[in-house]
Amino acid sequence: MNNPFEKVTIVGAGFLGTQIALLSAHSGYKVIIYDTKESAFDETYNRLTTDFKNKKITPAIPWEKWDELKKSIKFSTDPAVALKDVDFVVEAVFEDLEIKRKVFKMMGENAPARAIFASNSSSMPISRMEDASGRPEKCINTHFYLPLQGMYMTDLAPGSKTLPEVMEKGDAWIRSLGCVPLLVNKEILGFCFNSVWRAIKKQSLYMWGNGFVDFRDIDRAWRIFSKMPIGPFGFMDTVGLDVVYDIEIVYYNDSKDPKDKPPEALMEKIKKGELGVKTGKGFYSYPNPEFLGPDFLDPKKK
Ligand SMILES: NC(=O)c1ccc[n+]([C@@H]2O[C@H](COP(=O)([O-])OP(=O)(O)OC[C@H]3O[C@@H](n4cnc5c(N)ncnc54)[C@H](O)[C@@H]3O)[C@@H](O)[C@H]2O)c1
Repeated sequence: MNNPFEKVTIVGAGFLGTQIALLSAHSGYKVIIYDTKESAFDETYNRLTTDFKNKKITPAIPWEKWDELKKSIKFSTDPAVALKDVDFVVEAVFEDLEIKRKVFKMMGENAPARAIFASNSSSMPISRMEDASGRPEKCINTHFYLPLQGMYMTDLAPGSKTLPEVMEKGDAWIRSLGCVPLLVNKEILGFCFNSVWRAIKKQSLYMWGNGFVDFRDIDRAWRIFSKMPIGPFGFMDTVGLDVVYDIEIVYYNDSKDPKDKPPEALMEKIKKGELGVKTGKGFYSYPNPEFLGPDFLDPKKK
């Protein structure tokens, strides 16, 4: 299968942007990554490798290729450099509509007219950003999960004016990265699978945040029930509790339903800097979280 593009720019060198950049380089694209923070790419790369090694994760890209791929990816804080001659741009900045709209405007002003734009937003449909780009017919959502940890699936959704050939290119790009496209036919917050995961996350936060249960018991139950190595709270630590909060606020702002508001206890953790794996503490402490220990699921250990 031929790659649909030659040159790809990732906007945002955080947890997801860095993973998408590495995966794109691994799949043969020329990759530039752009961030307003000079140290973002190096910092995230180091955090990712340390976290994967601590958790003994076998990444989708073999370890021996990581450094070589990192070197092949250009980093820039200059939009004119980062978006010059690019065919495809993926936005992966903070989950904040105003920031994303400014970024789409900046992308529209700096990328060539042929370039297709995608957002990696976890919740927001592209129709909320497409007009800021000046090219709504070339905008899509491509929402990755955690591709380097083996979650090789990507939501793919059109905006209100997306051309069919743009969707086809998005589909081909996702497949070329070794991910399964999850096609969304009608606009919905959270797309195909994130809206399902969100229902689990919302109820888990509600149960913990209102004192019904200890978060560890939800993780124990999830692991026994699903046979997955991590439960919802361990997973939220991986995502980042600030990112989780921002995503929940998108749902709340949309519905204004008090039941959609994330619990106060989550904001308290964020204020204390307990953001999960990236700060060494979230629901669990890192690098050796309790849920990876031998006693976590042992009924004989109390
Ligand atoms: N964390 C996850 O597990 C996850 C999973 C899927 C999708 N997402 C989505 O991906 C996006 C990024 O999330 P993340 O976890 O990588 O966040 P992150 O906080 O790790 O990284 C965000 C990056 O964006 C940069 N940034 C902020 N404003 C910018 C701007 N105006 N121009 C350029 N760069 C800017 C920041 O410096 C930072 O490096 C969000 O929309 C999020 O919802 C996150």
